[in-house]
Amino acid sequence: MRLTIFGSGYVGLVTGACMAEMGNHVVCYDIDEARIGRLNDGDVPIYEPGLEAYIARNMASGRLVFTTDVQKAVDHGLFQFVAVGTPADEDGSADLQHVLAAARSIGEHMDEYRIVVNKSTVPVGTADKVKAEIDSELGKRGLEIEFDVVSNPEFLKEGAAISDFMKPDRIIIGTDSPRATESLKSLYVPFNRNHDRVISMDVRSAELTKYAANAMLATKISFMNELANVAERLGADIEKVRLGIGSDPRIGYHFIYPGAGYGGSCFPKDVQALAKSAADAGYDAALLNAVEDVNLRQKHRIFEKLLAHYKGNLKGKTVALWGLSFKPRTDDMRAAPSRVIMEALWDAGANVRAYDPEATDAAARLYPDQDGLELCDTAYGAIEGADTLVIITEWQEFRSPDFVALEEKLADKVIFDGRNLYEPATVERHGLKYYAIGRGRV
Ligand SMILES: NC(=O)c1ccc[n+]([C@@H]2O[C@H](COP(=O)([O-])OP(=O)(O)OC[C@H]3O[C@@H](n4cnc5c(N)ncnc54)[C@H](O)[C@@H]3O)[C@@H](O)[C@H]2O)c1
Repeated sequence: MRLTIFGSGYVGLVTGACMAEMGNHVVCYDIDEARIGRLNDGDVPIYEPGLEAYIARNMASGRLVFTTDVQKAVDHGLFQFVAVGTPADEDGSADLQHVLAAARSIGEHMDEYRIVVNKSTVPVGTADKVKAEIDSELGKRGLEIEFDVVSNPEFLKEGAAISDFMKPDRIIIGTDSPRATESLKSLYVPFNRNHDRVISMDVRSAELTKYAANAMLATKISFMNELANVAERLGADIEKVRLGIGSDPRIGYHFIYPGAGYGGSCFPKDVQALAKSAADAGYDAALLNAVEDVNLRQKHRIFEKLLAHYKGNLKGKTVALWGLSFKPRTDDMRAAPSRVIMEALWDAGANVRAYDPEATDAAARLYPDQDGLELCDTAYGAIEGADTLVIITEWQEFRSPDFVALEEKLADKVIFDGRNLYEPATVERHGLKYYAIGRGRV
């Protein structure tokens, strides 16, 4: 089948590569010429495990093409996937400018029936807006061409995006058009071999399902972070509590890790956008607002612990920081807790020596010429000359560190762990003071 994908970011590239891998012919279109230039040179602009090999293989076979030629893009695919960014606007609502620009491009250039498939995360009602934009462009051209707009939200996780796309938990198809439903079901047949994962519904419910899923996951995290803060004040250990509640199958062990707060390009903006949609519809979504408030507070917890330990004075301190990306196995630093902590450290007059297995390039782009930031090539390079260590992302290589080296190198012999990676007794046995999340009195 022939597909066009608007947007060559995390979602667009994974969708394009996986669809091509299944034998489809895919044209990926982006307005970012530099990005398309890099892709055509065989350079994948994001880090996502397995993606580079998929892209290389399918470019070589001619099934995956990157272009900035919008006419060529719209001419190519029966399916016009929209996978452009929907960042938070100033008031927290989803900024739809890129989605609507993609819709206008489709309306300006289409000459025959098209199925516009919205993969971007968008508020309820966006499909109607996309339809109106396309209708308006067709009207300007004096044309009446049939098309359908479908909501097909994406649930991939960065870091495991290829396997999530190839073996999805569910494929949501939101439309009232039987023709579009049948076509999309055919497109997704290869992803359904084990069992049928397609859930068909109306377009508004599909749009809301994506927000509901992210809001539920964010709620679980904020709930555990809230409980961690309670545990600290009551002298309980949240890690014991986590095991105690996770054993209940109605709760489960997934996604109940306390930590330094959620980040990334999705949870923060999606929780806000859903709360804003609710508010616009006259409903105060108190729980959603609290989930986001708890998270914003949580991103400061590790800094507060540093400040308390150093009695309010971090001036001149050198802090080694392990982990910059918002979670392991990605280079994505959008809304990452590391940013909040580093910025607070710089404001307090401290220096940061940061290491991340994948995100140092992203950090260099975000903080060019930043005073007080040294990006290091190795985890142990980062602790050279450092007073203390702060851990923000739970990359596997941090899980079993050389505590002897840490005790030798860290001048103040103290670790602040924003991901509860270690047993407190083990760290302390090595002569290091250990602060974690929810594991002892504050
Ligand atoms: N990143 C994730 O893990 C994830 C998961 C599920 C859903 N989503 C949603 O998918 C959407 C895309 O997210 P992302 O992380 O891939 O974004 P991204 O920022 O990585 O990529 C978006 C791309 O779209 C391009 N673009 C912007 N306007 C365009 C236009 N008019 N035509 C063509 N290209 C255009 C940009 O240049 C950019 O390359 C968002 O709505 C996001 O919420 C993201």
